[in-house]
Amino acid sequence: MPLIIVRNDITKMNCDAIVNAAKNSLLGGGGVDGAIHRAAGPGLLEECRSLGGCETGQAKITGGYDLPAKHVIHTVGPVWQGGGHGERELLRSCYAESLRLAEENSCQSVAFPLISTGVYGYPKAEAFRVAVDTVEEFLKDSDMTVYIVVFGRDSLLVSQKRFADIQQFIDDNYVDEHSDPLEERRRRLNLAGGWRSDRKGAAPTVGAAYESSVLPSVPLSQFSEESSLEEALKQIDESFSQMLLRKIDEKGMTDAQCYKKANIDRKLFSKIRSDVHYRPKKTTVIAFAVALELDLSETRDMLMKAGFALSHSSKFDIIIEYFISHGNYNVFEINEALFSFDQSLIGQ
Ligand code: APR
Repeated sequence: MPLIIVRNDITKMNCDAIVNAAKNSLLGGGGVDGAIHRAAGPGLLEECRSLGGCETGQAKITGGYDLPAKHVIHTVGPVWQGGGHGERELLRSCYAESLRLAEENSCQSVAFPLISTGVYGYPKAEAFRVAVDTVEEFLKDSDMTVYIVVFGRDSLLVSQKRFADIQQFIDDNYVDEHSDPLEERRRRLNLAGGWRSDRKGAAPTVGAAYESSVLPSVPLSQFSEESSLEEALKQIDESFSQMLLRKIDEKGMTDAQCYKKANIDRKLFSKIRSDVHYRPKKTTVIAFAVALELDLSETRDMLMKAGFALSHSSKFDIIIEYFISHGNYNVFEINEALFSFDQSLIGQ
């Protein structure tokens, strides 16, 4: 783990293996296939000649020759014929078989292009979904790092409907930091006054009135009779690391379930676990908030522990708010959207 989406030329990826979107003969072609053969040099074609071709949906492995990658895994994607000819299953098999070969060859990192989405015509958003779902399934039982490499300016990795939906949400919520329109001033006054629209049913929060504040925030309900003042005060002093571990316990999750769901590397999690004063990046905090399925106010509380806030003058923050307020806690889907809007990704 984890799954990392990058924009790059796959021939430049310094991984144990890169995957080639090849044709059945395995004897080279255009697109990513041509680029890989050019960068690897003639030795690759020579080895490919000895392989006897490859069936659609299957994969074969060779050396990487002049590439930075040690191996090339050649897989043949389906030609898109409208979706009713088993294309999805064949594409899923390309990813699954390539991952299986990578594992058999002790690869710790592997990079995929978006198979079938060029000459073979598979719609990009759908192909991307298949790629992510298959890799995500594989990573449940593997510590491999898997890259999905998007080439050039390709951006529509989320469906057009979701893209439009998020765009609308951004337009409705985006606040230009320098404009300070009347509506925004009203919103701030409301915040300072108490109830916030996103905190349906939740108690107001001490220290949370101003979004840019880094004051520790503790729900007022924690000062009720059930929990003692002492306990609530303990939580004020709690560090990010301590809060994270407490929340994992409260949610009944294991550490591994949580860091995997957050798309966070095991080593990074160990560092956070062993260092009470660990200072995480904002993208790391959000990944954990998502993995723990925190609501917006809990997410803000966790961010504050690390000195961050959610603001309506940041597209990244609004996209996060979109997913949390829609109850969508799938880190991979969130990253697809962030990627499509050219924002930093969470977790990783
Ligand atoms: N790095 C990463 N991705 C790339 C690169 C590159 N250098 N070059 C192209 N791509 C992307 C394309 O943008 C596309 O999204 O790879 C994806 C797959 O496109 P194709 O290479 O056309 O592969 P595919 O659709 O699977 O068609 C395979 O094309 O070149 C022939 O021999 C190949 O017949 C086979 C067919």
